[in-house]
Amino acid sequence: MNPESVNAYSQRHYGRGTPSRADEALGQSEIFLEFQERLSRVAPVNRPILLLGERGSGKELAANRLHYLSKRWQGPFLTLNCSALSSSLIESELFGYEKGAFTGAAQRRVGRFEAADGGSLFLDEIGNIPMEVQEKILRVVEYSTFERVGSSESIDVDVRIIAATNADVKALAARNIFKQDLLDRLSFEVLIVPPMRERKEDIILLANHFAGRMAVELGWTEIPQFSLEAVRALEGHPWPGNVRELKNVVERAVYRSDSPRISEIVFDPFLSPYENKTPEIETGGATAEVTASNLNDLMARPLKEAVWGLKVRMLEDALQRAKFNQKKAAQLLGLTYHQFRGLYRQYRENED
Ligand SMILES: Nc1ncnc2c1ncn2[C@@H]1O[C@H](COP(=O)(O)OP(=O)(O)OP(=O)(O)O)[C@@H](O)[C@H]1O
Ligand SMILES: [Mg+2]
Repeated sequence: MNPESVNAYSQRHYGRGTPSRADEALGQSEIFLEFQERLSRVAPVNRPILLLGERGSGKELAANRLHYLSKRWQGPFLTLNCSALSSSLIESELFGYEKGAFTGAAQRRVGRFEAADGGSLFLDEIGNIPMEVQEKILRVVEYSTFERVGSSESIDVDVRIIAATNADVKALAARNIFKQDLLDRLSFEVLIVPPMRERKEDIILLANHFAGRMAVELGWTEIPQFSLEAVRALEGHPWPGNVRELKNVVERAVYRSDSPRISEIVFDPFLSPYENKTPEIETGGATAEVTASNLNDLMARPLKEAVWGLKVRMLEDALQRAKFNQKKAAQLLGLTYHQFRGLYRQYRENED
């Protein structure tokens, strides 16, 4: 199969296809640049790589970059997301099958390993691969050979495996859910994609990038700009969904905005505008929530720092819920406007 038909194959059969080379990984924080540096260094080394990272942090983008910076860049780059596939489906997707191998196998089908010959195969969500299939993958990693389902003919391939997961794969191996010897072989190098909260300096850079792209998509002629409050809100958010969450939040803010000045940021699209709560109850509820979710964190710090941390969290939360209307935020916090301004000034000075 030549690379062109493989790419077409990839697009057709694997839904999302592969990210294009134009999908650049942006970032200028030291942590991100260090990560990119490690990635670029290992990319041309012909060994399997394991990418670890939280959801939405950029594992797939990193896998793509590993391929294009390797000597295999002109070869195919194929992906298999193993997360929701049964054992037999993963097996036939990876290794292909012969005509008549099982009911419904009307004709021979080439699997990803064969199609990725001379290139790279990205195995996403490897924590979900059933044991029997792990065994078979181990053989390919070890001897570069496998058989199609329903065939005894060995097929030799030259494929570099890039694996990824956001699961604790070492713990899975300790519990015998993941084969330790496969993990040993896949982890010649382990690259840990940094989460968004460790690269706060990149938030606004990425936000501007996604906002600009969204504006172009919407046919805007003006470049969107975030208000100071919006910038504060973006910078203060913990981003559990990482870059994907940031992209969604920013794109939503842009399309909802009536002007290129983006001032309203909605982090949770599930928040219902119809919930009929009085402001008092709302304040109480949110306060309890903020306190609870960070209490352990805060309790570990010195008292003064913890109290300040709580104030900041509550202030940011109130601002966000009040859509950055400071009078309303003061109300939500049970403060006079004057008291609120005092706190807000302190907050701004400390954050700068
Ligand atoms: N550094 C970056 N610069 C620009 N865009 C990025 C960056 N990192 C990730 N993205 C974008 O964020 C989104 C999520 O990235 P990606 O799919 O690579 O994450 P992932 O770790 O594979 O997520 P999941 O665990 O959910 O599969 C994609 O749209 C990707 O293009
Ligand atoms: Mg992914």
